[in-house]
Amino acid sequence: MKIIKDIKELREFRKALACSVGFVPTMGALHQGHISLIKKSVKENEKTIVSIFVNPTQFLEGEDFEKYPKRVEADRKICELAGVDVLFMPEISDMYVSIEPTILAPTQKAYILEGLRRPKHFDGVLRVVLKLLNLTKPTNAYFGKKDAQQLYLIENLVKSLFLDTNIIPCEIVRDEMGLALSSRNTYLSESEKKEALKISKSLKIASKEIIKGNKSVKHLKGIMKEVLEPLKIEYIEIVNREFEAIDEIELKNSIILVACMVGSTRLIDNLWI
Ligand code: PAJ
Repeated sequence: MKIIKDIKELREFRKALACSVGFVPTMGALHQGHISLIKKSVKENEKTIVSIFVNPTQFLEGEDFEKYPKRVEADRKICELAGVDVLFMPEISDMYVSIEPTILAPTQKAYILEGLRRPKHFDGVLRVVLKLLNLTKPTNAYFGKKDAQQLYLIENLVKSLFLDTNIIPCEIVRDEMGLALSSRNTYLSESEKKEALKISKSLKIASKEIIKGNKSVKHLKGIMKEVLEPLKIEYIEIVNREFEAIDEIELKNSIILVACMVGSTRLIDNLWI
């Protein structure tokens, strides 16, 4: 596996490839969720590039940019074992110059849910993802359904800017108790981890209700709230796959999304119905 930090070197490496290229962008502290994306890419493409870049423009003032977990050596081993061809780890000063155009995510879809609580977050995500896609020019790029709104906005970016990459959505990976894996889970104490299980439990209970035929969004949100309490709920929302509000679950076209504070850690999870 090649480790590339230099942008010019990455571009030269990419230019020399005439085969299919898979790309998995990450912020590191890799876990089984990331690994599932990487393995899928290795299986489906002749070459795979993984990036690790803790992107400053997607963190808001007061968020965890400074303390975001870093495990470079472990990440390197994980990528090597998974069969990655290039691990790209650029410096902030190489990714951003002082004067450059910015990308603004579409407000109707980027300032609801996550974007309402984290204004400008998706501007930063799209800005770095566009840069990374331009550098790696992948045939296929892999993103987790865990970040459903991010995935939607990246699909929209690629489609509307006519980028020549297939966006491949990947299933959410959970631990044996049901907690969706996240690099931020490392912030949780043992008791907080137990509390956090309420999040996936609330989604499971909603899906059982839907199977029973209860499709009213109001009803489902009420039931989920009961399961989640006393956690500090940031939102429980149910939308269609275009991220529009709905009153009734539309089978194969709905997403239930939850964001909660567990202690001082913000966790998100969702279920595609
Ligand atoms: P990061 O949080 O490191 O996630 C990298 C990719 O892994 C994302 O596509 C995310 O959805 C996916 N992922 C995370 N946890 C997962 C899980 N439990 N199951 C399946 N997939 C999971 O998302 C980002 O980084 C950044 O915003 C990035 C796209 C790299 C831009 O900076």
